[in-house]
Amino acid sequence: MAFDRSIKIAPSILAADFANFGAECAAVEAQGADWVHVDVMDGHFVPNITFGPATCAAIRPHIKGVMDVHLMIAPVDPYIEAFADAGADVITAHLEAGPHIHRTLQAIRGAGAKAGLALNPGTGLGDVAHLLDMVDLVCVMTVNPGFGGQKFIDLSAKIRDLRAMIGDRPIHIEIDGGVTPQTAPIVAAAGADVLVAGSAVFKGGSVEDPAPYGANIAAIRAAAEAAQS
Ligand code: DX5
Ligand code: ZN
Repeated sequence: MAFDRSIKIAPSILAADFANFGAECAAVEAQGADWVHVDVMDGHFVPNITFGPATCAAIRPHIKGVMDVHLMIAPVDPYIEAFADAGADVITAHLEAGPHIHRTLQAIRGAGAKAGLALNPGTGLGDVAHLLDMVDLVCVMTVNPGFGGQKFIDLSAKIRDLRAMIGDRPIHIEIDGGVTPQTAPIVAAAGADVLVAGSAVFKGGSVEDPAPYGANIAAIRAAAEAAQS
């Protein structure tokens, strides 16, 4: 995983056909996805349940590029090794998921994955300053986590402040929630480089008819690239 700030589109398989994950991952990659975003939910940290490390391991062979695993679970630490063993390239944990995020980030890197730090919309950047040397990615949630298809929350000022804090460090800014061709320019202009999109990528297509995935990815990318700061 070489670092650069080019726009990367990361379809979230939360919006894919759950009975067809392998084929859906391959389809979005063939249609231009840069990363595949995998949303793990536990029904405790967030009010929804998806799947765990066994599913991640099962889809891993169907992803050629980066498998970006977003853990919306608490506690996190007992499961890090399992997600790393499942082949996650990036493991992102929430700052709000427990009292020892510093230890969690250490454990993620210790397990051989890139470490991501996710922030709920209501979480400020104060604590992030103390964690910047331990992270490879900061995920700014632009919806409250738990469900796909929610309305985008405009957090441009927070993204801009984060971009300034990061400076020259090789840290991705990922945006997750409500990303569409309409909202992508807002976050790209503020400094984001990884755009997660679920509904906006998968709408209109299927494994049998994947061309709409390609058109949706291209539309988000074009809108973001035109605005990137
Ligand atoms: C929300 C998830 C997101 C979600 C994005 O809890 O973390 O990744 O799938 O879905 P859209 O793009 O539909 O808002
Ligand atoms: Zn996510």
